[in-house]
Amino acid sequence: MSNNKTLVISIEGGDGAGKSTVIELIAVHLQELSLPFIITREPGGVRISEQIRSITLDKNLQEMDVRTEALLFAAARRQHLVEKVKPAVEQGKLVIIDRFVDSSMVYQGYVRGIGVDEVYNMNLFATEGFLPDLTLYLDVDPKVGLDRIAQNPDREINKLDLEGLHFHERVREGYLSLVERFPNRIVTIDANQSVEAVTNAVIKEIELRL
Ligand code: TYD
Repeated sequence: MSNNKTLVISIEGGDGAGKSTVIELIAVHLQELSLPFIITREPGGVRISEQIRSITLDKNLQEMDVRTEALLFAAARRQHLVEKVKPAVEQGKLVIIDRFVDSSMVYQGYVRGIGVDEVYNMNLFATEGFLPDLTLYLDVDPKVGLDRIAQNPDREINKLDLEGLHFHERVREGYLSLVERFPNRIVTIDANQSVEAVTNAVIKEIELRL
């Protein structure tokens, strides 16, 4: 990377936006560039956070209170940040995170109705104000996203995947409101295009900042 600048990039998007596939393809591309990088995910990325993930996404735990859920996502975020993200930044690596605090603001804050500000403020305890340098939001039409989910038989079905079109529309509304709120940090990528086109658009945004 030029001038030793470290870079943390989060990738966000509604379910079915193609995020997982695009991230796999970005990894292949970055390997070819021989750049030091890590790709990690939320909730998860380290042992403790992966265990929290299995609780938050367990489709049998439907009785989970929404604030409990928000606190668990924040706890997973905290552990992942201190144990994996910050050390990688200190080693000068490019860090790509599959989801970060924007997911909580959208899913728990906006869609589940806790309030975007409230969720953001609660997360400040976990993150101590840390935000990615860049967030790429993969914006997909909720109908296209749901079709993609239906067509992918290998997908692990989690609690949120059991939601219908209205939920996915609300997720998109939530993200669009964050794009307006953080115009300097969040860049929108049109994810209705082919996976190759989306991947190229993401790579272009990353390379602009290297
Ligand atoms: P993820 O593994 O990224 O699934 P997907 O492949 O569907 O993108 O995320 C799992 C789910 O966790 C996803 O439906 C969104 C949800 N989530 C929250 O509700 N809040 C959060 O803070 C995070 C990080 C994820």
